[in-house]
Parts: sequence; structure tokens; C-alpha cells
Amino acid sequence: MAVPAEVLERIKKLRDEINYHNYRYYVLDSPVISDEEYDALMHELKELEEKYPETITPDSPTQRVGAPPSEKFRTVPHHVPMLSLDDAFTPEEIREFDSRVKKFLGIDHDIEYTVEPKMDGLAVELVYEKGIFVLGSTRGDGYNGEDVTNNLRTIPSIPLKLLSMEVPVPELLEVRGEVYMEKDAFEKLNREREKQGLPTFANPRNAAAGSLRQLDPKVTASRPLNIFCYGVGRVQGHSFKTQWEVLQTLKKWGLRVNPLAKKVTGIEKAIKYHEYLAQLRPELNYEIDGMVIKVNDLELQEKLGTKAKSPRWAIAYKFEAAQSVTRIIDIILSVGRTGAITPVAVMEPVKVGGVTIRRATLHNEDEIKKKDIRIGDWVIVRRAGDVIPEVVKPLKERRTGKEKPFVMPKYCPVCGSRLVKKPDEAIWRCPNPDCFPRLAKRIAHFVSKPAMDIEGLGPKVVEQLITAGIIRDIPDLYYIKKEDLLSLEGFAEKSADNLLKAIERSKKTTLPKFLFALGIRHVGEVTAQLLAKHFKRLDKVMNASLEELKAIKGIGPEVANSIYNWFQDEKNRQLIKRLLEAGVTIEPMDEDEEDKPLEGKSFVFTGSLKSMKRAEAKKLVISLGGRVQTTVGHNTDFVVVGENPGSKLEKAKALGVKTISEEEFLQMVGKK
Ligand code: IVH
Repeated sequence: MAVPAEVLERIKKLRDEINYHNYRYYVLDSPVISDEEYDALMHELKELEEKYPETITPDSPTQRVGAPPSEKFRTVPHHVPMLSLDDAFTPEEIREFDSRVKKFLGIDHDIEYTVEPKMDGLAVELVYEKGIFVLGSTRGDGYNGEDVTNNLRTIPSIPLKLLSMEVPVPELLEVRGEVYMEKDAFEKLNREREKQGLPTFANPRNAAAGSLRQLDPKVTASRPLNIFCYGVGRVQGHSFKTQWEVLQTLKKWGLRVNPLAKKVTGIEKAIKYHEYLAQLRPELNYEIDGMVIKVNDLELQEKLGTKAKSPRWAIAYKFEAAQSVTRIIDIILSVGRTGAITPVAVMEPVKVGGVTIRRATLHNEDEIKKKDIRIGDWVIVRRAGDVIPEVVKPLKERRTGKEKPFVMPKYCPVCGSRLVKKPDEAIWRCPNPDCFPRLAKRIAHFVSKPAMDIEGLGPKVVEQLITAGIIRDIPDLYYIKKEDLLSLEGFAEKSADNLLKAIERSKKTTLPKFLFALGIRHVGEVTAQLLAKHFKRLDKVMNASLEELKAIKGIGPEVANSIYNWFQDEKNRQLIKRLLEAGVTIEPMDEDEEDKPLEGKSFVFTGSLKSMKRAEAKKLVISLGGRVQTTVGHNTDFVVVGENPGSKLEKAKALGVKTISEEEFLQMVGKK
């Protein structure tokens, strides 16, 4: 059945309209219809295309996703090589560039330049034939790149069809641009990945690169990528006179061009604009690492020509990189949520761009080998993307011969499991699924309120500290430095100071709190109280015999065993030793204090008890210093569950209040 002419016409009209609205939205940043109206157009087009599938063309705005995953990317040549740019960092170097250009051209008047933000993403080439997007590739080595057409098609701001409202589209157009990820989209993506236990990206650039090089376009489509176009390769059927005209025309064809690009006359204006961009930089929602200065006149560009790797007519005026020099004291391992092991450089503290840095991730074993980083090396560190500290390279000329190459340990620094690595991966992993969560729980318990009571150190911060390699066991808490905290997301001067103060305060503790904090199986707050009351001193608890422990009122055989075994374990004795060395002190027990093991604890009874009347049980609780409540609330410590319990049990469960059996209750009050 032939497609009715009016349908064909409607489809064409819808596509043109949608393309125009994409242009208003992505290029001009000035939409003229609401999102709902736009969605309605898309919806109508999709319906028509579903009904008449023979009308679907690859350049239809509905056809962004849908290509099947590829096995690998095909190599494609760049007909005009994608060169790189020479770098400059100072106004002097820029003035020298200007002088060189003038000298080469034999000109002594001011030259017209374009000045454009230098995007920190990855370069791509888009090929349009008769206005239709047919091929897209990465820069690769500048001469050959990878065919990532299907991935580029998923980027909403890349037109599948060029507009020809103002300027007719050329026969052939090769456009160059930078694909990037916006800063807030990058942070959102990383937060989601963290939640899913996936490794996070170090910076927006890596996230963009990783997303574009996905074999499955569906994955790319789910990543918020964007593009700014800044130049052309081959063009047939149109000619330009200036770079400025290139930028303006690309825009008219519906390609996104950075609105901060400008035309200036004379190099001093360019230098001024660089100052302006440097100051604007933190406010931009995308990363720029400098400004590109290009001779505007294309004829002059032609005359100037290119050197082996870079053109004579352009220069990258980079922003002063935030970098410094320091020494690597050690390379330690951190364990991530998913078991990923990351080597971390511990350095002598150094200020980089106003922030003190002490640690930097070294990513993986291969990266350390590639950069040839050794323990004891003097290194250049910088804050990549101005956030994450990074070791740029070692200063080999400063080596003394005492530097030690890094050897990847074979065992997990936290749980001791043998590390594993997939043949095609660079990352070693701890295979023990309990490793990270158990450590995180152990530490979170240690710092919790009834234990060492370190205010401001919740489970989330504990996880951050482990992931960053700052702590890998309990005593490390007492060696945290301010710089460590400042390197974590969410910490500023004040919050870092507050946490350090809280850690310091927690060093002074009591025996029951300390015993509870150790996390010995079956030793809850009440048992910790009992032990403390009985032994009065830590060393006495540590050296108690099994018989002695069993003889304590309120401590049953199972609990006694658990305590005994825990203190027999050399690892645990070491832990205590290290805590005391770190400055933890235990206040002496008040000798003549009454025996009140239930002090401060509140109980609720539900159901009937077998061994005694409810009233008797209540009296017992009170005599041991506890309180009895009639209803379950958030402040209830224990709900004692007898036979045929009532709704209080439900409520306890709902509120997450601890429930104990009659048996457990009897043990607690020393009747068993
Ligand atoms: S022009 C021959 N303009 O910088 C000149 N490049 O070293 C080719 N870049 O990865 C580059 N923004 O993708 C030019 N406005 C801009 C740019 C820009 C970012 C990147 C480019 C390449 C590198 C060149």
C-alpha cells in the first residue's frame, strides 16, 4: 500500500519542525515551544513512522538510538589531519606567538584573531553529505580515528540533518568539535554509579571519553553528552573567508558553537579575554583548560601553514595549571565498595591551587608502571579538573637511587584475601564480598554514639574514608589529618575541624564504652557494663580465664566463650595496643558505684513470661538501674517478647527497636 501523499507531507513537515526546534533549543539556547509541545511533535512523528515504516530514514529525528551494539570500532581516516595545538601559559609566550605570525606574514599591523574557549573533552569529526550526518569519528592519532557514528547519533545536540534556512547546506561538510559532559551531569552520573557500586569517573573528560567509546549505543544514549563545534575539515560546495564566518555558518546549519567565542583585533585584546575567561571558568558548567587563539583570515592561515603536528596560525593559551612539587612517602592500597583495589600515593602535604593535598589516586598498577612512579620520588601533582589530585609525573632528575619501585601486593590490605584480576582488566580486586561492608560496619559501630561516640562520623563518611584509602582499620581513625578530610567531597575547613575535634574528644572514654566499641560478638552495651563492673580494668578483662568469665552473673557460656576467644586472638590484642598507642585513654571505673548494669536502658514487656510475673520482672529491671515503659517508642532500648505477644511487637519491628526473648532477658539481668 502506497503511503498517502498527505502523510508523506506531514512527516516531512514534522521532521523539519523538530529539527528547527532542536536548533532553537541546542544552538540558539532560545526555544520557542514548550517541552510538552516538542514531545507532542515527536510523538506524532513516531506514530506515523510506526504506521508507515517505509517512510523511516536514518536522518529522521526519531532515529537516534536503535543501532545494535558493535564488536569493535572500525578505523576511519581523517582526510584533513586533526592536528594538535602548541601550548602557551604566559602573556609573553602569546606575544611571541603574535610576533612570529606577523614576521612570517610580513605584516606589522594588528592581526584579527578569534578567541575561543578550549573545551576539555574529546575531539570528534562529523561528516555531513548533502546535509545528512553519515559518519562520525574520534580524533585517534589525528590521521585515523574510530568510527563512533552510532554513538554520536545519540547525542541530542548533534543534528542528524543540517538546516538550510539561511545558508544552503554544502555537498560535503566535515565538522570538528569537542564532545564533553557537563559538570553537573558528570556529578549526577558518578553519584548514581556509586549507588550501584560501579567505579566512578575521575573527571568529566574521562566520563565523556568512556561514554563515547561504548560498544553499545544504548549505553552512550544514557549518558548526558554534549558538543561544541569549532572548525571544519573538507568542505565541498561552500567556501569560507574567515574562521569567524566558519563559526557563524556552522551555527546557521544547526551545529552548536560555543557562545563565548569572540573576534578580536590585536593580541592584547586576546590576552585580556583570556583573563576574563579564567575568571569566568569556575562558573561554567563545563570544563575548559584554556583559550584557543586562531588567525581569523583563512587565507592568512593558509599562508602560515602547519608544522609537523600543529598549525602556525593557532595556539592554545592554557590556564595556569594548579600544580606543585612534593614527595611520595608511600604508596598504599585502598579498597572500594566493589572490592576494586586502588593504589594511592601518600605525599608530603603540599598546596596546589590553594588547597593542601596529601593523597592522590594512582588509578592502577599499569598507570604506576607507565608513569614510572616510585616511592620516595619527587613528583609533580596537580588537581585535574581542579578537584581530584593527580600525580602528573616523577622528576627523575631528582632521584637519588633510594627510590623504591612499587610492587603490587598479592593480598587484600583489609581482609587478607588473595587479590584477583581479570586478564583484560587493569584493576585488581578483593574477591571477598564481606571485605568492604564488614570493615565499614565495624568502623561505623566503633564510632557510634553508645561506643566511642565520634560525632559527625556517620556510615557515609566512614565509607568515603575507606574508599579514599584514608582508613583501612579502626586505629587509623586517630591518624586522620585535616588534608585527608579536605580531599573528600562534602568537607570544608569548618566541618573538617569539627570532625577532628570530635575524634580527639573520643580518645577519652570509659571502660564499658570501649568494650562495647570493640564489636565483640554477643557483647552489647549491657554485657560490656557487666564486664567493666566486674573487672574494673581493661587488662583484667583481656586476661580473664574462661571460667572467670562464665562465673559472672549475667554472662552465659556462649557469651563467655565469645569474649574469651576474642581476647585470645593476637590480631585483636594488637588492635587494642594500637588504639592505646594512638592515645585512647580509659577512665578508671568508680569503685564504689552501685551495681547498675541496666543504667539508662528502657524496657517494654509484651506477652507473658514463663519464669516470673511481669511485675517481678519490672522490679528487677528497676533494681538494676533500668526503666520500664508501657509503650514502645524510639527511645525504647529493648522489647522483651514473652508468649503470645501483642501489637507492641509489631510496633517494635516497625520502629526497628531491638527485641529480646525471655531467655536473653534473664541472661541480661543475671538470672541465668
Ligand atoms: S582548534 C588545528 N578549537 O584541543 C587546530 N581545538 O590540541 C585544531 N579543542 O583535542 C584545534 N576546543 O579538540 C580547536 N575551540 C577549539 C577547541 C579545540 C578544544 C581541542 C581539540 C583538540 C585539542 C587541540
